Amino acid sequence: VLAEKGGFKHFMLKEIHEQPHAIRETLAGRVSLDEGRVYLDPTDIPDADWQAFTRLVIPACGTSWHAALVGKVLIEELARLPVEVDYASEFRYRNPLLDERTLVVVITQSGETADTLAALREAKQRGCHTFAICNVPGSMAAREAHGVLLTHAGPEISVASTKAFTSQIVALYLLALHLGQCRGTLSPTAVMKHVEQLLALPVKLEAALEQDAAIAELSREFFRASDFLYLGRGVNFPIALEGALKLKEISYIHAEGFPAGEMKHGPNALIDERLPVVMVMPREVGHAASELRYEKTLSNLQEVKARDGRVIAIVTEGDTEAAGLAEYVIPIPATSELLSAVLAVVPLQLLAYHIAVRRGCDVDQPRNLAKSVTVE
Ligand code: G6P
Repeated sequence: VLAEKGGFKHFMLKEIHEQPHAIRETLAGRVSLDEGRVYLDPTDIPDADWQAFTRLVIPACGTSWHAALVGKVLIEELARLPVEVDYASEFRYRNPLLDERTLVVVITQSGETADTLAALREAKQRGCHTFAICNVPGSMAAREAHGVLLTHAGPEISVASTKAFTSQIVALYLLALHLGQCRGTLSPTAVMKHVEQLLALPVKLEAALEQDAAIAELSREFFRASDFLYLGRGVNFPIALEGALKLKEISYIHAEGFPAGEMKHGPNALIDERLPVVMVMPREVGHAASELRYEKTLSNLQEVKARDGRVIAIVTEGDTEAAGLAEYVIPIPATSELLSAVLAVVPLQLLAYHIAVRRGCDVDQPRNLAKSVTVE
């Protein structure tokens, strides 16, 4: 069994460490640095329709829904198209507004989640083009959608999703670049810069994983906590949600994710000396909007400190400002703010993992949860 797990104690830890490889596979054959182009696999969606979409709707569940929230930021920023993210279980039981110029993108690791498949079928029935971001070749979603982008992350065994999530974000980045190319919002030179950043990501993920031992040590300090708060802004707000989900799924500790700016509308009331607050706050130096978000989050950090909360900050390496304020910092390599989500989630996966191990939980098979929810 240990061989199956590649020498790791759990599938989850193995899959966390497989992320650099998984992302190389997601990118393989789909990006050209020389041409400044991305290539999706052929779809049944005509080129003219790719140019004519006015809006995207993304239904998904669980961790895939968090990837969808990251995708919204990426697609709105790079392709300048409005994106609506929906829980598949809500979408299917509503009367969603759809027309032939709406692209419906489902995100599903397994390609078999009942609610997500129902959303896909509903969209098709209403005459929409559909697109699936999926990890399992030959799954229902992969077979039924008009276009498919397989993430190629390899089989994911652990119930808590890790490498599927980061590869979904990379797939969404490719989709955003493709839409930008089709719509003319991105020049080849611009695409080239993005491709360069994407190609550098696997090595940076390897560097992020080097924090594993330090995070295992940190978990000693926090594994008895009964609640956790996760905060982030922009593309890292969904990462705060995902960090909280990972922790509650496998350690059974109550955890909530919030946009950092929303603290004053509720979560502030929870802060005391017993509450660990994980602040996801990478910065892209020289990028004005990113710096502004960072400064705002830095003042949120000060507020948490003023209320005696215990801050663990996920920061870009070399950041001394946050380091001077937080009780603990976990550095991640510098990258563009848009791609920082892929790196920032890694320490959160590791933190949840090591806390769950210390609490003696069944990491790969958490109680009451299933890898894939194929019935309602
Ligand atoms: C279950 C799994 C989650 C997963 C969700 C959606 O809840 O435990 O890890 O994110 O289903 O699954 P999907 O296969 O559609 O991405």
